[in-house]
Amino acid sequence: MQALLGRDLLAIGQLNPSELELIIQTALSFKRDGTPALLDGKTIAMLFEKPSLRTRVSFEVGMKQLGGSAIYLSQSEVGLGQREPVEDVARVLSRYVSAIVARTYAQQALVDLAEAADIPVVNALSDDEHPCQALADLLTIREKKGGLKGVRVAFVGDGNNVSASLAVAAGLAGASFSIASPSGYSLPEAIVRDARNWATRTGGSIETYSAPEEAVRDADVVYTDVWTSMGQESTRRQRLEAFTGYQVDLGLMALARPDAIFMHDLPAHRGEETVDSVIDGPQSVVFDQAENRLHAQKALLALIMGEGS
Ligand code: CP
Ligand code: NVA
Repeated sequence: MQALLGRDLLAIGQLNPSELELIIQTALSFKRDGTPALLDGKTIAMLFEKPSLRTRVSFEVGMKQLGGSAIYLSQSEVGLGQREPVEDVARVLSRYVSAIVARTYAQQALVDLAEAADIPVVNALSDDEHPCQALADLLTIREKKGGLKGVRVAFVGDGNNVSASLAVAAGLAGASFSIASPSGYSLPEAIVRDARNWATRTGGSIETYSAPEEAVRDADVVYTDVWTSMGQESTRRQRLEAFTGYQVDLGLMALARPDAIFMHDLPAHRGEETVDSVIDGPQSVVFDQAENRLHAQKALLALIMGEGS
């Protein structure tokens, strides 16, 4: 467990392939054999600037199952960077708890928290990345497809926090990742570069397209996320227009392999990025995927906070 002890997880690219594999293996073992009370008596603080269902509940339940506890703190209580400086919040929480799990708008707020804290900081979603989601996504693909190397993962939609973390995670795991996004909504170049750098070392690949049909052809996994993320509501109208033609419907699913699975991090905006017949259909694994947030995060917490931290 030493490899990750005391570490932050602000972006998925902070892990190397063997660390990622260790988290997935630990999650599989907790899921199969039960969860040891590795965090007996430890507490995490959960600082959330944005709403959450899965992330909040899975971290809180996960800490409880590991023998510890979690304290949820909303932005209206803490006023991160408003009521007091981010760095002071980090220094104070370091005196009370063993890790900070934070959902912020700015990635920089996480970096500032991590620099000032004496304890691990975990990104629970920022505007740039959603690394805990990517851990659960890979765990789900591993379970459903029996492995990760060479698995063809197609993402249709926004080059956002979820697809950014998934692209880099796929590169780390040696998967073949393709993404189709409309002009102006593609993945940041730095993410494509990082993902490709890992892919060249792991035997994976990263391809970017504009046509959804090209990304999805013969895919093992078809993944989508909302077109309007939290904090982008004022641009919803433009986004609805830009993403016309990017909906994952049964016609698009038919271009993937017949045994392809459909994934979505949730919450879904049904009728926009996908439709009931897909998300509620036989290929959908979205609720197994949501459950895996719990298993993947318990593994992460045990590895970064276990043994004397
Ligand atoms: N997928 C996910 O992070 O969901 P919440 O926003 O509900 O936590
Ligand atoms: N891209 C979405 C993910 C929600 C879990 C958002 O940031 O709102």
